[in-house]
Amino acid sequence: MRKNIVAGNWKMNKNLQEGLALIDALKVALADRDKVNCDVVLGTPFIHLANAVAAVGDKKIGIAAQNCADKASGAYTGEISAAMIASTGAKYVILGHSERRTYYGETDATLKEKVVLALANELTPIFCIGEVLEEREANKQEAVVKSQIENALFTLSAQDFSKIVLAYEPVWAIGTGKTATSAQAQEMHAFIRKTVAEKYGKEIADNTSILYGGSCNASNAKELFSNPDVDGGLIGGASLEVDKFTPIIDAFN
Ligand code: G3H
Repeated sequence: MRKNIVAGNWKMNKNLQEGLALIDALKVALADRDKVNCDVVLGTPFIHLANAVAAVGDKKIGIAAQNCADKASGAYTGEISAAMIASTGAKYVILGHSERRTYYGETDATLKEKVVLALANELTPIFCIGEVLEEREANKQEAVVKSQIENALFTLSAQDFSKIVLAYEPVWAIGTGKTATSAQAQEMHAFIRKTVAEKYGKEIADNTSILYGGSCNASNAKELFSNPDVDGGLIGGASLEVDKFTPIIDAFN
């Protein structure tokens, strides 16, 4: 069965001390709960990864990088390889976030390379897809998302694809306070699952976790996650404070 996951994406926020303080607070909050009904992941800046892995200690919280290089190693000044990320003990890498696509020119072709390298280094890619507002207004959201998935992921073997986590993030909902409605999220997640099933079969599609991202918060998480095809969230702003993040985790209780 697929996993429910609540993943925080800190983006370019928190210095090391602030990040470690947040992890400590989250550990205390989670220890107070009888049961946590989802996997919890934190996407930290690269420079915090090793410390974050040490700080979480046990395996209850997974640590994610927010990007990796599209090359394995070599003379690529400033880049961070998937192997380096894995060597910190991080288990996940967020790839294809719309901020990477928009501000840093990431394309389906480079993302395809990054996914292969992540998997080769036993990192779980949290692969982001989603349409911009103009595309939704033109009713092209399904075509856009389908092509993002096909172009970057559909050359993977079934075995490799089964290791991917998908995150649907309508770009118009990211950091805007404008969440997709529960119905919009379910409709798109069902479409994504159907797209995966057409390529890899129903069993793999049913086992793929598909997260929702975009102004997800304590007030809307329960409704969003109650949809049959929404398996959790990729959380930006609300992951930066423990009192805002833990109610999203509790949405699965
Ligand atoms: O990766 C997270 C998403 O970009 C969502 O960000 O929750 O601040 O809208 P947000």
